[in-house]
Amino acid sequence: MDATRSCPDAAAEPAAIAPALLDWYDRHRRVLPWRALPGETADPYRVWLSEVMLQQTTVAAVRPRFAAWTARWPDFASLAAADEAEVMAAWAGLGYYARARNLVAAAKVVVAEHGGAFPSDEATLRTLPGLGAYTAAAVAAIAFGRRAVVVDANVERVVARLFAIAEPLPAARVAIRAAADRVTPAARAGDFAQAMMDLGSAICTPKTPSCLLCPLAARCRGFRDGAPERLPVKAAKKAKPQRHGTIFWLQRGQAVLLERRPDKGLLGGMRALPTGPWVDRPPGLEGAPAAADWRLRNATVSHGFTHFDLELSLAVAETDAHHDGDGLWWPIAELDRAGLPTLFAKAAAAVTRRDE
Ligand code: ADE
Repeated sequence: MDATRSCPDAAAEPAAIAPALLDWYDRHRRVLPWRALPGETADPYRVWLSEVMLQQTTVAAVRPRFAAWTARWPDFASLAAADEAEVMAAWAGLGYYARARNLVAAAKVVVAEHGGAFPSDEATLRTLPGLGAYTAAAVAAIAFGRRAVVVDANVERVVARLFAIAEPLPAARVAIRAAADRVTPAARAGDFAQAMMDLGSAICTPKTPSCLLCPLAARCRGFRDGAPERLPVKAAKKAKPQRHGTIFWLQRGQAVLLERRPDKGLLGGMRALPTGPWVDRPPGLEGAPAAADWRLRNATVSHGFTHFDLELSLAVAETDAHHDGDGLWWPIAELDRAGLPTLFAKAAAAVTRRDE
């Protein structure tokens, strides 16, 4: 039977959405290392860390990194006291490195100004470094049971479909947020948020949603209208500018020259191979870290940043001179422990593969 015909506009009943979704969540919730089991209280540190890690990274990629991180820094106090270079190295490969710097900065504030306990209300949470609207709402709801409206990309998709919001993103965010507010319950707001995320990840997927399995299908206007997969509508992507640069692999015996990138700017604070300027045309050997017999390899490494794509050539040289700058000579055999961002790890793999 057509469920929507039995109730002419079931979709217009926002109050019925939370009970149906929570009922589904109680049966199908994912078991994840940062989640409390039913009846347990979530650890705010773990909730916060997981939310920050999950911002640009999949659950599958976060799982092992979350385990390694919490084994090393299990709470605010240990993270506040951590060596920042080690923290940055532990974040290597997760991208968006400002997140790691902000984790340490926020842990320090929690210890120094909040007696080592996370504040529980959204407004105070938002005063901490790196805690934007999403993270503050997620922590307030999931760790403290506060009613907060949590909207990530999964929730955005579910809500746009439930209410058939056809306005393109990003302008649609205002309407999506208002609709999310209308369906968020006063009790169990944290479970509700995570249920929306689980639904978005397992059922209300971007391309081929499994509407026949969806606990909200009978209340979904996108489903009723016949093409939920078209929502949310996205504005056409602007082409990203292409920039070029050169990575310098300077080898001395069995070690390679690394530098620590300036705190401000892309990949800030990370250990890295030296690069020259990142500019509109391939800059060749400009900005080499030392005078040497540089040879440009016939290989490039590419990386997409938020606002531009970068293609880096590889220049290789050997030296027996000491280096006067603030670089450090890192044993090549131990490069996987340097915590290089993916871009430089790829370059290192390209050079060492060829040398074998
Ligand atoms: N993505 C972001 N936060 C999440 C959470 N708490 N559970 C599952 N997926 C998520």
